[in-house]
Amino acid sequence: MLYPEDLIEEVRTRNDIVDVISEYVKLTKRGSTYFGLCPFHNEKTPSFSVTPGKQMYYCFGCGAGGNVITFLMEYENYTFPEAVQVLAARAGIELPKAEMSAERRKEADLKTVLFEIHKEAGRYFYYQLKTPQGEKAYRYLTGRGLTDETIRHFGLGYSHPYRDDLYLYMKKKGYPDSILKETGLFRIEEKGASDKFWNRVMYPIMDVNSRIIGFGGRVMGEGEPKYLNSPETKLFDKSRNLYGLNFARSAKRPYLLMCEGYMDVISLHQAGFTNAVASLGTALTLPQANLLKRYTDQVILTYDSDGAGTKAAVRAIPILKEAGLSVKVLSLSPYKDPDEFIQNLGAEAYEQRAGEASNHFLFEIGVIKREYDLSDPEQKTEFYHAIAQKLLEFPEELERNNYLDAVCGKYFIPKDSLRQLVNQKGRQVGLTARREPGKRAEERRTGPEKEDGLRTSQRMLLTWLANDGQVYEKVRDWIGPEDFTAMLYQKVAGMLFEQLERGEVAPGRILNHFINDEEEYREVARIFHAELPAELTKEEKEKAFSETVKRVKKNSLDRIGRTVTDMAQLQRVMQEQAALANLHISFD
Ligand code: GTP
Ligand code: MN
Repeated sequence: MLYPEDLIEEVRTRNDIVDVISEYVKLTKRGSTYFGLCPFHNEKTPSFSVTPGKQMYYCFGCGAGGNVITFLMEYENYTFPEAVQVLAARAGIELPKAEMSAERRKEADLKTVLFEIHKEAGRYFYYQLKTPQGEKAYRYLTGRGLTDETIRHFGLGYSHPYRDDLYLYMKKKGYPDSILKETGLFRIEEKGASDKFWNRVMYPIMDVNSRIIGFGGRVMGEGEPKYLNSPETKLFDKSRNLYGLNFARSAKRPYLLMCEGYMDVISLHQAGFTNAVASLGTALTLPQANLLKRYTDQVILTYDSDGAGTKAAVRAIPILKEAGLSVKVLSLSPYKDPDEFIQNLGAEAYEQRAGEASNHFLFEIGVIKREYDLSDPEQKTEFYHAIAQKLLEFPEELERNNYLDAVCGKYFIPKDSLRQLVNQKGRQVGLTARREPGKRAEERRTGPEKEDGLRTSQRMLLTWLANDGQVYEKVRDWIGPEDFTAMLYQKVAGMLFEQLERGEVAPGRILNHFINDEEEYREVARIFHAELPAELTKEEKEKAFSETVKRVKKNSLDRIGRTVTDMAQLQRVMQEQAALANLHISFD
């Protein structure tokens, strides 16, 4: 680890988790816990909790959880050292200058080194653009209307035609194959290594903090494949990043523009629309939509006007809506994509189109309409039926009626007739039965999945111990860390029991030990957030608690009983089993 443990602990304790998270999420106090809307998934009622006593956060909806350091790592996509640095600065703590010697580098976490290599590769490609070799690439970009300023701003570059140019450059810098392999920028095989990208115009892909996490490489002119993109790596998760969001997040417009291509984003930014983003050559995902929701409430889709673009827009709409965004669709006709539109009609015309962007519903109806020949009365009726069906997707009557008015106005449909049709269809399907959002919310709960009762008991016990120091007195004679089954639980219990023994309980500190593994620290956060039975009488509480202790201990004894071979030991186990049967813990 880059910094000594004590120093990390000082940084953590001097940044109160409630203060820090309040800068990102509106929190309301309920008892000893704060609640707010989870910034990691879309929800309408708060299930995201922040507990000052534990200095931890945990979302009961999606399972995101951790301490103040992991919060910044997840929210800002910082590496561990970066999060520590930001928090140290916030608390006015001076960190020692971390000189990265070769040895230190090995220790530092892999992600940091991967960021460093990507940054160097980005610089290298950019530099190549300005050499005689790179001239044709430079001319290609300026030929597409990009200024020097734009090329610099987006860090566009050029990859050499030599097959291992970048590889040799990185080797000279001292990076071992084992790490270069992880970047996705090279093919490293027994018979030799080569670059993934060569003779292409390079588009660095950046995360929200403007750090390069991958590249897109485009052929100059025609050729296949048109784009080659970095594979998924430890840095690059295509479904959780958006091209251009690092700039768009601070754009001062009430909406974000969502387009399909890198070139569209660049072109729009150059024309003054710094609020444009694109998904990364794949269909829009829910995590991307949730990411957008952090920065805006409204998205205007500006996908290509061809069949593929229309299809992509139709698919993106429900995803954006699920994230709680309002969605409009901008018409580019008669041009193919935003880049072409801007080149031909300019920024002002585009601005006007954005203002006229139609509500997603009317756009969807427009797409459906293409399937029908409205001069044929039969097909016209079918079209109306399709509209009525689509209207039923709005569960609220008021909203449904507003859209009904709009669509009738646009297609000259008599309102009363359409309303009758909607009601009739609504009765057939049982209008309330269509309330799918609730069902989807259930399906989305991928975080805290179902688990066996024993695990739950173990978590309850650990949560109980962390919440209430007095509980420890009652169980110390019965339960030890070795009674917990899973390795991770045993480790966590070991640390917690040690803290309890010293009388300083700090689950947030325990979490520091698992910070390099997202899966592990989430699980640790979860261990400390078991849902305890609320509102119990003293007797009920004693009973519930005794049962939990019994269950955990019984399992542990049974396990030992199955493996011991020594008679005396077996007898001890049996004695304990008998004693356990009569266990009753009372609180006074
Ligand atoms: P230009 O043709 O230079 O204007 O590119 P563009 O950014 O407008 O791209 P286009 O609209 O053709 O495609 C949209 C996006 O899909 C691109 O930005 C890429 O991310 C992705 N894409 C396009 N072609 C390919 C391909 O051949 N392979 C892969 N992996 N992705 C592609
Ligand atoms: Mn294009």
